[in-house]
Amino acid sequence: MHENIASIERHLTNSRELLQQLQHDDFGFQKMALALKELAGIHMIPNEKNRCLMAGRLSSVLFKSGIRDYSEYHRLIRSGNAAAIQEFISALTTNTTEFFREARHFEVLRELLPELAAAKRKQLVPEIRIWCAAASTGQEPYTILMTLLESLPSLADWQIRFLATDIDQTVLARAAAGVYTAAEVAGIPPNLRQKYFSTRTSDKVTSYVVLPQYRNMIRFAPMNLSEASYPFQHRFDIAFCRNVLIYFDRDSAGKVIEKIASHLNPGGFLFVGHSETGLTKTSLLKPFANAIYRRNP
Ligand SMILES: C[S@@+](CC[C@H](N)C(=O)[O-])C[C@H]1O[C@@H](n2cnc3c(N)ncnc32)[C@H](O)[C@@H]1O
Repeated sequence: MHENIASIERHLTNSRELLQQLQHDDFGFQKMALALKELAGIHMIPNEKNRCLMAGRLSSVLFKSGIRDYSEYHRLIRSGNAAAIQEFISALTTNTTEFFREARHFEVLRELLPELAAAKRKQLVPEIRIWCAAASTGQEPYTILMTLLESLPSLADWQIRFLATDIDQTVLARAAAGVYTAAEVAGIPPNLRQKYFSTRTSDKVTSYVVLPQYRNMIRFAPMNLSEASYPFQHRFDIAFCRNVLIYFDRDSAGKVIEKIASHLNPGGFLFVGHSETGLTKTSLLKPFANAIYRRNP
């Protein structure tokens, strides 16, 4: 018993010491920040807040792997170890999201869909292609899907191609599973919650699960927005890329928007976060509504 307590205390002291050491290692921080920028486009400027943030998020990763400083961890990341790189990126991405986040966007989406659908209906098999480019744990793509299905009830004859991507495979796995807590679904209107989710209760805790027929309408796949080019053969009618470019520097964010715009159909729409509107420089896009752009015809 005493042995156990002593070993837990040792463990806590060691992990606290590691955290403190990482917080003060400015050179190590800069090396890891550069690696993060090269791997994911995420730009962490060197300041006290970011040094603490990085140390806080990486200390447990290093500790459990028996790594005791940034230099050794940097060598592991630079060696190209895919699992270690995924864990590194996953630890340093911020995945905050919610259903109907920035709700005005979904009102505009509902308003613009009839016009888009009317143009598409002229096709032999009408198809709508949607891309949610930083899908996190899935709340955003499922909100888009519910809005789409509610706005276009005669969807039976439509081909809906819906791709949801994120660099972080841990959150994508959660998105694909589509299981949420009561607190997470609180922002969904009750009629939609009843229609699109089932409930399951275990140990008196109720979870909300996206019904499989809706979950299966979305393809979840890993994708890094900072890649030099994107691997799409077809263009999208609607793209959402919200609350991810705030983590990039302006130049890299502008390049991402340019690439996304080049994968939109003429007349296609790009939704960005409300704090990301100043980043769009491409001549391919024109402002359409607040934080929404439209590709030139
Ligand atoms: C704050 S969340 C935003 C989620 C959602 N778009 C929303 O607005 O609620 C940012 C997401 O961007 C993802 N991300 C960060 N860097 C990325 C990159 N280079 N490529 C693709 N996704 C990235 C993160 O993993 C995270 O899930």
